[in-house]
Amino acid sequence: MSNLDWNNLGFEYIKTDFRFVAHYKDGAWSAGSLVEDNQLSLHEASPALHYAQQCFEGLKAYRCQDNSINLFRPEENAKRLQQSCQRLLMPSVPVDLFVHACTQVVKANTKWVGPYGSGATLYVRPLVLGVGAGLGLRPASEFLFLVFCAPVGPYFHGGVRPANFIVSEFDRAAPNGTGAAKVGGNYAGSLLPAKLAKEQGFSDCVYLDPATHTKIEEVGAANFFAISKKSGAFVTPSSPSILPSITRISLVHLAKEKLGLEVVEGDIFINSLHEYSEAGVCGTAAVIVPVGGISYQGNLHVFSQEKAGPITQKLYDTLVGMQFGDLEAPQGWITKVS
Ligand code: PLP
Ligand code: COI
Repeated sequence: MSNLDWNNLGFEYIKTDFRFVAHYKDGAWSAGSLVEDNQLSLHEASPALHYAQQCFEGLKAYRCQDNSINLFRPEENAKRLQQSCQRLLMPSVPVDLFVHACTQVVKANTKWVGPYGSGATLYVRPLVLGVGAGLGLRPASEFLFLVFCAPVGPYFHGGVRPANFIVSEFDRAAPNGTGAAKVGGNYAGSLLPAKLAKEQGFSDCVYLDPATHTKIEEVGAANFFAISKKSGAFVTPSSPSILPSITRISLVHLAKEKLGLEVVEGDIFINSLHEYSEAGVCGTAAVIVPVGGISYQGNLHVFSQEKAGPITQKLYDTLVGMQFGDLEAPQGWITKVS
């Protein structure tokens, strides 16, 4: 295993040994292979660079107690990448090629998967780029599919400690835009709102629905959920402009099947936060972070500043237990890499 301070990793790029590259040309993907070089040489007129014809994914590899390594639901990331590709007129990466590439990259970099119990994971970043010469606004004729990885710690901060968020005045997505696709352009636009939120002491910003600005959509890099005071239901926004989080669909399943909760995929109005006893944000990088409070129009609505609510904690323990192989996960959720 590499000599890193595994218990104190942040979420930064650390160069690992191998990455995967496949090339799409003349209507077909190449088989692809592992390479050591972490630099790309691209045509200066690549549409990925000018017109953001690119999309990406994020998933993690987890070291289990028996030293084996798990990938969590990689087929779901493959399917979402296909949807992102379709939205931007890029050729879909076949699910098999995607899972093969991620598996190969993790296998070739096992020394970068931190020890069980350290909190470190190996973050796997697949991406598709439109490359080759293209000046007019039209799709690229050639594409690259890349997968690299980096060992990471927590995205927001350590443990299941609550974090505070502030509602942004900016929109992350348009009602019929690209919000549901994991495309770089959405993230470029979120840099300024995130910077403003952090300057005011918040972990990130909450985006409201772009059509009415009355309902919570999601956070810069995570989906949102809350627990209804009245019914105890797990409530999570349903909207065509949020990124369909794989962590969230997993929590929907676990809330229903393991915690026996009612699940509502519907509206969470920003003016009705008092109707919820707990809230959290969820994503691959974020895992589950309890929402301590949400600032909106100058008022901080506080859920809990000290610790996660009981349901949020239970969901965290169940999800993370499955990812690290301590709890049995539903059929098909875990792909063993080694
Ligand atoms: N929403 C946004 C905008 C994200 O970037 C992410 C991260 O991928 C998520 C939600 C969570 O999605 P997932 O659980 O699939 O990682
Ligand atoms: C992820 O959770 O994979 C993300 O996309 C977060 C990323 C923006 C750092």
